[in-house]
Amino acid sequence: MRIDIITVVPDLLTSPFEASIMKRSIEKGLVDIQLHNLRDYSLGNYNQVDDYQYGGGAGMVMMIEPIDKCISALKEQRDYDEVIYMTPDGKTLNQGMANQISTLENIIILCGHYKGVDQRVRDHFITREISIGDYVLSGGELGALILCDAIIRLIPGVLGNETSALTDSFQDNLLAPPIYTRPAEYKGWEVPEILTSGNTPKIEEWREDQAYKHTQERRPDLLE
Ligand code: ADE
Repeated sequence: MRIDIITVVPDLLTSPFEASIMKRSIEKGLVDIQLHNLRDYSLGNYNQVDDYQYGGGAGMVMMIEPIDKCISALKEQRDYDEVIYMTPDGKTLNQGMANQISTLENIIILCGHYKGVDQRVRDHFITREISIGDYVLSGGELGALILCDAIIRLIPGVLGNETSALTDSFQDNLLAPPIYTRPAEYKGWEVPEILTSGNTPKIEEWREDQAYKHTQERRPDLLE
């Protein structure tokens, strides 16, 4: 999968791709991340990428021309399945969306900044708008990272044990059951006996039951 990220602050995006699972996915050649500094497509001598809004009002707006130039240059090189815009008024990211996006070949992620982008960018270039939650960030970059992490770990071969993404919370609309590791007893706090019984079918049954209870307590909306 190839992910092209368009941003005015590429520095915000570098280190998360240089560690842990996202780094490994790149090293394994399963993911290609390309960062594009929108200022490289800016207008005039001042590297301008934003301007005042028509009709007045506080805050700057990202201009259409640099964004058009950047997206068009990318589209000349390959076809894209989606051009995603990160914005608080987009559709809230969930596991189902991450699953679907992880199956795509090439995507562009545009990070908004300032007040956001000229509406014509959204009308003519964007195929999908995604929010990471009902709060406003100072830009779309952190949201883009969250989206990338959520989708990259689902790409076959990225996680060592393929089943481990399938047993994540939300994959079947259930939260994950509690998990334990050694020691079996610590300060008198014991691991549930069933988990050390070696009875695999019973353990599976217990896990399903716990996942259901956990979901009912914390996120009953997922069961509706
Ligand atoms: N940009 C600013 N706030 C955001 C949010 N909540 N989700 C995605 N992009 C954003």
